[in-house]
Amino acid sequence: MDTLVSAAIAARENAHAPFSHFKVGAAVEDSNGRIHTGCNVENATYGLTLCAERVAIFKAISEGARGFKRVAVIADTGALTPPCGACRQILWEFCGDVEIVLANLAGKSETLRLGTLFPRAFDGSFL
Ligand code: THU
Repeated sequence: MDTLVSAAIAARENAHAPFSHFKVGAAVEDSNGRIHTGCNVENATYGLTLCAERVAIFKAISEGARGFKRVAVIADTGALTPPCGACRQILWEFCGDVEIVLANLAGKSETLRLGTLFPRAFDGSFL
């Protein structure tokens, strides 16, 4: 199996999702080929919840990683789970039109580009 997908599946196991019971794992590959992972981390106030994708990206950025080549998102859903709107904005900021692999635990997967999911994004080029 794709090592990026396996890393996201493993990260999903660490999800802290006592409120939704919806576990998500994410993994990003940086320009050096290093993989950074994240899981969703929920909070009793709900609104402070962080999605798996943002946890993975923020962990990677805080460790000095840049130039992301691929992103994987894993959930246990039949219809593959895409990143939420907030995560699309954050992924665009740090990854641009990156390749995204959506997959589930049954082995179904689809690869697409962020630009397809998030057309006409606002970013620093407008400032
Ligand atoms: N969630 C993610 O971590 N990533 C997504 O792409 C979709 C949603 C989380 C947030 C929350 O903990 C739970 O899934 C239900 O929305």
